[in-house]
Amino acid sequence: MTETTGTRDRDPEAASCPVGGSRVDDRTRELIKQLAGGDDRLTFPMTRSAPFDPPPEYAALRSACPVAPARLYGHDAWLIAKYDDVREAFLSPDLSADITRPDYPKSPAGKANAAMATSGLPSFLRMDPPVHDDLRRLVTRDFMVKRVEALRPRIQQVVDDLIDEMLAGPRPADFFEAAASPMPNTVICWLLGVPQSDHDFFQDRTQYLFKRGVPDDVRFEKLSGLNDYIYDLVDSKNADPDLDPGADIVSRLVVEQLRTGKMDRRGVQGMAFIMLVAGHETTGNMAALGTLALLRNREQFEALGKDPSLAPGAVEELLRYLTILNEANWRVAARDTVIAGHHIKEGEAVVPLTFSANRDDGHYENPDALDIRRGARDHLAFGFGIHQCLGQPLARVELQVFYETVARRIPTLDLAVPIEEIPFKTDVNIYGVHAMPVTW
Ligand code: HEM
Repeated sequence: MTETTGTRDRDPEAASCPVGGSRVDDRTRELIKQLAGGDDRLTFPMTRSAPFDPPPEYAALRSACPVAPARLYGHDAWLIAKYDDVREAFLSPDLSADITRPDYPKSPAGKANAAMATSGLPSFLRMDPPVHDDLRRLVTRDFMVKRVEALRPRIQQVVDDLIDEMLAGPRPADFFEAAASPMPNTVICWLLGVPQSDHDFFQDRTQYLFKRGVPDDVRFEKLSGLNDYIYDLVDSKNADPDLDPGADIVSRLVVEQLRTGKMDRRGVQGMAFIMLVAGHETTGNMAALGTLALLRNREQFEALGKDPSLAPGAVEELLRYLTILNEANWRVAARDTVIAGHHIKEGEAVVPLTFSANRDDGHYENPDALDIRRGARDHLAFGFGIHQCLGQPLARVELQVFYETVARRIPTLDLAVPIEEIPFKTDVNIYGVHAMPVTW
């Protein structure tokens, strides 16, 4: 790994260059025009041209225009392309994550999902301090390394059972549906205290948060069912006079928050929903897509199967290399500010491009290559700053167990179709695969 060689312009004169749609110099304007097909702003999100790589524009932005004007769902926005600048943006107290701001850009999918799934339930992922910090603190202990390490043997059992079942079934199998997606579902169910008998219902319903090609009325019905389920879960726990607050997150919130009047039922429901949305689809997609990336780098897949000590490094590198959550981390300037030496006006959006940062050759040597021995723990795939992924210790354990077990137990695993036929999730803002037919 090399030190950053960023060429940011910290000259205050440059930072105060003319405003009014032209805070970019002629050279930059020309480059944006070329990249944006004649337009004066890029449109975010952009299209990928290869399944594992970011849109090609990112590299051009890093080298020539690290803070670039863009349009984000109808709002003026700035794309931040370099590693150090992305960290700076995530640390800025002037940038807000508050989704209730009228100027906060909302993606059509995000709007639909949020409205349908949560009926506007509060989620601290899209809140600012101090409320964000107070709510996050309520669940921090559940994701401490020691706590999640204690789950490792049970997670191993879940992964082994899923693989046993897949291997006993017909070939080809859909790896995403058979193994990758059910693993985090089971783990979230434990954390939330969802009874074993309801795990399948939960798995079926959560898929509809991000499933493609589903008519709106079907999605609405499925997600309303999930919403009702969580509502009833909170109620039934609350009705239990002997409820053990140490049993799971929902039980604790009911005893410590709901019953003491510190939080209402919608608040508890919102906390359960954020765990579900943040922890299920992300980990499931990483499990499938990461396995696919390993299969395309066969020597590394085989090495992992023979040497389990490579698993932690493999997880960090796959997180860096794939950065599946790049298109949903934007913020809005709550006041005029300067980010990466560049003036941002109040109400403008800022998009820290974590996928670009993770492929910044000013920070990583040969960043476009997958190298599970790289030691890339400082990647930004979990974000950075106050919203940095709360569940990352858990995601790490789940993925370490998953990749290592798959590589060890199914050394002959391979795609059952050409990679061109894999339906990649280019239509939702958590990247992954809709399906992954495999054989062995
Ligand atoms: C590979 C899997 C995962 C990835 C790539 C991932 C990625 C992220 C990212 C990038 C953020 C920051 C979003 C932002 O700054 O706007 C985030 C936040 C969050 N994640 Fe994860 N996540 C993963 C797994 C999990 C799991 C397993 C859980 C819990 C069950 C979880 C819970 C959360 C929560 C609660 C937040 C909000 C934190 C806050 O706003 O303070 N995540 N995640």
